Amino acid sequence: MTLSVLGIACSPRRNGNSTRLLLEALETAKTEGHTTELVYFSDLKINPCQGCNACSAKGICVIKDDIPKLQEKLIHADRLILAAPIFMMGLNAQTKIIIDRMQTFWALKYLHHQTLVNSSGYERIGLYLGTAGTKKPDVFDCAERSIKTLFHLLDIQYAQPCLYSGIDHAGEINEHPTAFAEVRKATQALLIS
Ligand SMILES: Cc1cc2nc3c(=O)[nH]c(=O)nc-3n(C[C@H](O)[C@H](O)[C@H](O)COP(=O)(O)O)c2cc1C
Repeated sequence: MTLSVLGIACSPRRNGNSTRLLLEALETAKTEGHTTELVYFSDLKINPCQGCNACSAKGICVIKDDIPKLQEKLIHADRLILAAPIFMMGLNAQTKIIIDRMQTFWALKYLHHQTLVNSSGYERIGLYLGTAGTKKPDVFDCAERSIKTLFHLLDIQYAQPCLYSGIDHAGEINEHPTAFAEVRKATQALLIS
């Protein structure tokens, strides 16, 4: 079965560490015969949620930007791979902005009891690829909490993430002895599940 795999590169560094891992994952999926799409946050015009709660009425956001385009992709993807760095011990703002703007989906799902996903009859699965400069043991805790919340909202099962700490300057991930092999393995697992 050919799956559609959506990758979202959330780092502002287009050639940064998390995006490099994402490119490896998408290349793996492509090699395995699946359809891939890569979206860079930096190519989109996305504004933060204003907390106005207007979406509670009909699940429609008052902010006119690229979020509906991204939501369309999120609804139709069979697999989601989200690559995001840690900033100030949490997800970087770009990633968090995307997640917060899914409040329209929250409204549709929980207030209006609508099914968000065009069910193709099989489970959707998502993979989080994360990088952080420090090696603090809890450095990914806050990020994982938010990503799990996003995946739960989107009815996406949370796969074992690939998280790399102690990786700072852009491209440093290339020196990691196992990261790329682990990402390939995690992606393959995502595709056969
Ligand atoms: C504004 C900013 C804040 C950061 N805060 C943290 C932090 O709190 N903890 C940490 O481990 N790394 C922190 N980092 C380092 C990044 O997580 C690290 O450089 C990561 O590899 C970046 O991934 P990227 O290349 O995909 O953007 C920060 C980097 C920036 C630019």
